[in-house]
Amino acid sequence: MKPRHGSLVALLLFTIASLLVFSVAVSSQTVNQEVAKNPMHPAAPEQPIPYSHKKHLALGLECQICHGGPDPGSQMTFPPTTACMTCHASVATNKPAIRKLTEFAKSGQPIPWVRVYKVLPGVNWTHRKHLEAGVHCETCHGEVAQMDRMSEVTSVITMYVCLDCHQKSKANTTCEACHSWPRAEDAR
Ligand code: HEC
Ligand code: HEC
Ligand code: HEC
Ligand code: HEC
Ligand code: HEC
Repeated sequence: MKPRHGSLVALLLFTIASLLVFSVAVSSQTVNQEVAKNPMHPAAPEQPIPYSHKKHLALGLECQICHGGPDPGSQMTFPPTTACMTCHASVATNKPAIRKLTEFAKSGQPIPWVRVYKVLPGVNWTHRKHLEAGVHCETCHGEVAQMDRMSEVTSVITMYVCLDCHQKSKANTTCEACHSWPRAEDAR
């Protein structure tokens, strides 16, 4: 009896294991498609203040503390300077970069951050649908927590990459999903 009992347990374990593997495969298929790395290796743009994601994420901060979007709207948005000042009113105040930050805060002017990722005007883009579908920030923007300076490490703004992921994750691939060109009958 013993060996048969053993093989029954083995079969049960095998079934559980394959179910687990199967469910992992399914969930990664629906959400976490790879996004191609940017073959151009573009340099990080010169920013008005040398902000480091690596330094700040090491403090345990969540992305959404600073990028409060996309509700309302489609943009993640950049942090208001007041969010920086909750710490920098007292942290590292003698550093030149923090003096400059403090000047921006006093002037009430937003910091003119140089954009890193930008889709062509006229392309329909929203963060919301992607976050709702469970796509992670890092899938499209790379290992942000390791970046001292933000640069365009993936090719996520190209049509090829949008389409590749949409095909693999069975999202909308019709031209109209991403482009609002006038239809031929409207143009007449
Ligand atoms: C939760 C607190 C916190 C917030 C919020 C925060 N920082 Fe910092 N920041 C720190 C700490 C801690 C350091 C490291 C200070 C040190 O090295 O002595 C730092 C370092 C820096 C430095 C490097 C200073 C230097 O020259 O060594 C810059 C620049 C900076 N922060 C900019 C910002 C900006 C811009 C924002 C808002 C977008 C911000 N920080 C938000 C805590 C914070
Ligand atoms: C303490 C505030 C803070 C936190 C936390 C933070 N960011 Fe940022 N982020 C900024 C600032 C300031 C900029 C603009 C400067 C720059 O590009 O480095 C920025 C820029 C970016 C950009 C470039 C946007 C563009 O097109 O110009 C991306 C992408 C980004 N952050 C993603 C993330 C992700 C993902 C996380 C969480 C893993 C995160 N950030 C957490 C402050 C923050
Ligand atoms: C499916 C891919 C994808 C995901 C997931 C994604 N992003 Fe983006 N992100 C983009 C694209 C594409 C742009 C350029 C959009 C534009 O030009 O308006 C962008 C632009 C940005 C910008 C600058 C413009 C803005 O929206 O304010 C920030 C900041 C940003 N992303 C942060 C994040 C953070 C934080 C997360 C996770 C919470 C995230 N992104 C998730 C693709 C993505
Ligand atoms: C990593 C995968 C991934 C990438 C990269 C990606 N998308 Fe998506 N996209 C999705 C998923 C998943 C959905 C949600 C599908 C659903 O809800 O049925 C979606 C939904 C959308 C929608 C809403 C479509 C609808 O009918 O509601 C638009 C518009 C869109 N994406 C545009 C873009 C554009 C433009 C790019 C490139 C700049 C892009 N996406 C890149 C995965 C991706
Ligand atoms: C999932 C999103 C998505 C879908 C679906 C899509 N495109 Fe695009 N398309 C883009 C993005 C993003 C760009 C901008 C690429 C860049 O900046 O390099 C673009 C750019 C273009 C351009 C060149 C720039 C312009 O706007 O004139 C043409 C032409 C184009 N697409 C045609 C099409 C056609 C035709 C279809 C349907 C067969 C289609 N696209 C479907 C996302 C998409």
